[in-house]
Amino acid sequence: MSKYIFLSICLLAFLSCKENKESNTESNNSLEEKHRPAYHFTPEANWMNDPNGLVYFEGEYHLFYQYYPDSTVWGPMHWGHAVSKDLVHWEHLPIALYPDSLGYIFSGSAVIDWNNSSGLGVGNEPPMIAMFTYHQMEMEKAGKLDYQYQGLAFSNDKGRTWTKYDGNPVIPNSKPIKDFRDTKVFWNEKANNWLMVLAAQDRVQFWNSPDLIHWEFLSDFGENIGAHGGVWECPDIFPLKIEGTEKEKWVLLLSINPGGPNKGSATQYFVGDFDGKTFQLDTEFKDEVEMYDGLWLDYGRDNYAGVTWSDIPKEDGRKLFIGWMSNWDYAQAVPTEKWRSAMTLPRSLHLVQYENSYRLISKPVREASLLFEKENEAEKNQTAFEIGPEGTAFFEISFKKPSSGKTELIFENTKGENLRFGYDSETDKYYVDRSSSGANDFSENFSKPIIYGPRWSKSDSIELELFLDKASLEVFADGGKTVLTNIFFPSEPFQVLKFKSNNGEIESLEIKMRQTKR
Ligand code: FRU
Repeated sequence: MSKYIFLSICLLAFLSCKENKESNTESNNSLEEKHRPAYHFTPEANWMNDPNGLVYFEGEYHLFYQYYPDSTVWGPMHWGHAVSKDLVHWEHLPIALYPDSLGYIFSGSAVIDWNNSSGLGVGNEPPMIAMFTYHQMEMEKAGKLDYQYQGLAFSNDKGRTWTKYDGNPVIPNSKPIKDFRDTKVFWNEKANNWLMVLAAQDRVQFWNSPDLIHWEFLSDFGENIGAHGGVWECPDIFPLKIEGTEKEKWVLLLSINPGGPNKGSATQYFVGDFDGKTFQLDTEFKDEVEMYDGLWLDYGRDNYAGVTWSDIPKEDGRKLFIGWMSNWDYAQAVPTEKWRSAMTLPRSLHLVQYENSYRLISKPVREASLLFEKENEAEKNQTAFEIGPEGTAFFEISFKKPSSGKTELIFENTKGENLRFGYDSETDKYYVDRSSSGANDFSENFSKPIIYGPRWSKSDSIELELFLDKASLEVFADGGKTVLTNIFFPSEPFQVLKFKSNNGEIESLEIKMRQTKR
């Protein structure tokens, strides 16, 4: 190729790239982007699913994620990458991990190898280590069973560039097991070694290692325990103090698809003890798991594959979580054109005593308050509330628990579309009805049936925190004891919030609203 032709091609490529960039910015404000959240993390373009490699290092929260840069549907998986200094404002970074001859890069985790146990660090800086699942498509297509195995990559520049370990895979699939994936690794202080949990079809497996490279199988957990309506995926395990005590229990998070309490994908949890080798489910909790067919981190339909951040400084001490705000039932069909999916708001997880058992509660991270203006209190007896043109706000709402009937919050637009969140005193359940919330014909699995979540609180007052962000509503009820996260696609933003009770007045209704900062 002559130098001239080569230069012309470069110039044309540059111009078309520039044009794309500019049109991206333009279309950000156009109708095409009407469902783009104002304050939830979304990829700039194309397909995203699970959060991966959540790790904190030197003032940055890292968020890697399952990413396919060439389409708005799932495809050969990469790890996309973003960082934040405050968990709520994110900076997009270049793709961190690309597929290679060993396969696509499926879900996994990242840790800081503080003592350079892996020997992969340089100088005094500890390396950042990512452990992920390789998925070899050709092997799967050829009908083999061992097409998933575990790989490692490391970074010596704060996650900006990555090198795959040349001895990959570090855990081959020797059994073989068809679904063998989603490694979550952490330093187990008590056992003084690295611990890994991964999903193996209908159970999880525990492995340990002195150096993140050589792994030994320890035990498994979960066969015939909990919900099994689908394959187990994306586990996580960590100790948590029971609030108000010095006692600690271990919490195991486990995503399952399908088989959630409201169909499709969802995340269940187990509470028990872990002795460094085996996980023992707490007896009372086990009874409840059987009684309720699983206990769920979030009863909404759109919080999946969520896991927690590693290496949060001790002074902070929180267990921080983020989930993928979608559901495999319809994720690839939702009506967004340039990108698909958002993450939930980051949350902190807490364990509380509940009768003889426990509940895992989720609270929005306190940093979420950075997103909103000063609060705006409603006048007494006001039953319609202007949200503003963007359909984004944070609400704190409380009312006396009604003794009968249904009490509803109705988010409306001028097109006659609405999203209803309610409390049903007959069943003592919260619910979300998105059957009239806008576009819903893109998937049969989307709008029906009504989404229910049990009310675990015994208090006389219903306390709600709600985050509305154009196309999603996250409800934290009763201090996070019941959580419902759901997405929807109105043709214009919900600009008014109304209250309705089929049983007279709503007693002691208090409403505070905070508009999103621009
Ligand atoms: C969960 C999941 C994981 C897998 C990844 C592939 O949503 O199915 O089990 O690693 O997505 O993208």
